[in-house]
Amino acid sequence: MTETICRRFVGQVAFITGGAKGIGRACALRFAQEGAHVASFDLDQTANQETVAHCRELGVEALAITGDVRDREAVQGAVSQVMERWGRLDVVVASAGIFTGGPLDQVPLEEWQKTLATNLTGVFLVNQAVAPILRSQGWGSIVNISSMAGKTSFPGNAAYSASKSGVIGLTRSVAMELAPYGVTVNALCPGNTLTDMVRQVAEQIGGSLGMSGEAWLAMRAEDCPMKRIAEPWEMAGVVAFLASEDARYLTGQAIEVDGGMVLC
Ligand SMILES: NC(=O)c1ccc[n+]([C@@H]2O[C@H](COP(=O)([O-])OP(=O)(O)OC[C@H]3O[C@@H](n4cnc5c(N)ncnc54)[C@H](O)[C@@H]3O)[C@@H](O)[C@H]2O)c1
Repeated sequence: MTETICRRFVGQVAFITGGAKGIGRACALRFAQEGAHVASFDLDQTANQETVAHCRELGVEALAITGDVRDREAVQGAVSQVMERWGRLDVVVASAGIFTGGPLDQVPLEEWQKTLATNLTGVFLVNQAVAPILRSQGWGSIVNISSMAGKTSFPGNAAYSASKSGVIGLTRSVAMELAPYGVTVNALCPGNTLTDMVRQVAEQIGGSLGMSGEAWLAMRAEDCPMKRIAEPWEMAGVVAFLASEDARYLTGQAIEVDGGMVLC
């Protein structure tokens, strides 16, 4: 983490999906560090409890909610819990996601559907659940986590790339709907970031190329203009900026945070 953390969200409430791990957890900790109460919604109950415990150590209230972003009632119920607990919602980060990949001919229909259901429908359901609250408050920010794969594509990446491009289209439309109410809606497009997901990707794609996960990650770092893989807190810092007062006039954008990777 950087040493110059401000306290821009004191007393605010952040609802984060996928907060148990990786980028979602880094966002939960960043908002907690900046004074926001945090609700983290995730399938992984144990890891989610750890995130929430870390948030509480930072001096804020925090709530772990176990659930699946593909389940409309679970998402609506989680948002209701947040409102019952704190009576406001300021920041929404939709980070829950999965990676799947493989040659087009070999992608099972079930895998395509699960990827779209988690990465795109899941984000849609979160946006749908929070929109009426943010609209009636007349303030708030949504940050949907897309990917550099939403802006560019790679072979063997059909479902993931389609889901992440979908998040960008969804973000633009919701941004236009909520802009008249003072609510900003943006997408973050991370490059390779050191989380469990990227390690799984490295093992899978590296393996298909006859190389170790470590070797694949080293190759990706070398391919990147900044010559390294990102850390999750580097994503959280940009998410916090997008949710901050400094970004009040910034909406409908898909921000690449990829060390210049998409430029290659
Ligand atoms: N790590 C990267 O290199 C990278 C790059 C680009 C985009 N992203 C995106 O960033 C987001 C976070 O990824 P990460 O790297 O932190 O992954 P991660 O695997 O470390 O964390 C993902 C979290 O989402 C949760 N989750 C998955 N499916 C869920 C569901 N159906 N309902 C509720 N929770 C669910 C998992 O339990 C986990 O806690 C994802 O949307 C991912 O596609 C990651």
